[in-house]
Amino acid sequence: MDQSKFIDIFIMDKRYAVPASLTIMRAFEYAGYKMIRGAGCRGGFCGACATVYRMTGDNRLNVALACQTVVRDGMRLAQIPSFPANKMRYDFATLDADGARLLELYPELGLCKGCNTCTKACPQELEVMEYVGAALRGDVARAADLSFDCIACGLCTARCIGELTPYNIALLARRLYGAYLAPRSPHLAKRVVEISAGKWDAPMKEWKALPLDELKRRYNAREIEK
Ligand code: FES
Repeated sequence: MDQSKFIDIFIMDKRYAVPASLTIMRAFEYAGYKMIRGAGCRGGFCGACATVYRMTGDNRLNVALACQTVVRDGMRLAQIPSFPANKMRYDFATLDADGARLLELYPELGLCKGCNTCTKACPQELEVMEYVGAALRGDVARAADLSFDCIACGLCTARCIGELTPYNIALLARRLYGAYLAPRSPHLAKRVVEISAGKWDAPMKEWKALPLDELKRRYNAREIEK
């Protein structure tokens, strides 16, 4: 292997020479770490691989998703495989669309200092402080919309000086929005009735018996709704 393509990274302060082309997650594995916790989809969707790092000689702490970020020379790394974040328990059937529920369940919303560190910590580049503000005002739809791409990596919570758990507050907002505010889909309602009536039992049986290649061919040739 071309040694010039190797760089030095530091995992919990131990130096490793790793190929420069690897993601942080692959570099951990190249260095001999087995990712039992802190790895999931490996595609940037599940939020399991939250990582903090500093560059040598720089005091600033950076955040990243380990499966999506390529290593750089001098990176000093540590994984955060899970974070003990506050997540309220609630009986969803007793809730409603009133945005006041967010503040009732998460009164720490009122402790937001407006420092915006949560936004800077988000590897998805979401406007975290903005959706925290929306949640505080009881604006469920806005909080749900702004947090739509949240993957619950927990890095906002790890950095919040007000001890909030923005991603779990946002999760509640999206649940409330989905249950009570989102426009209903007539197509979905129709299809659920059809499924209950057994209309799709026979086609489903046929599809399950198909060879994979034929299944893929049919999937790719399907009619896509405009
Ligand atoms: S492993 Fe799922 S987002 Fe990185």
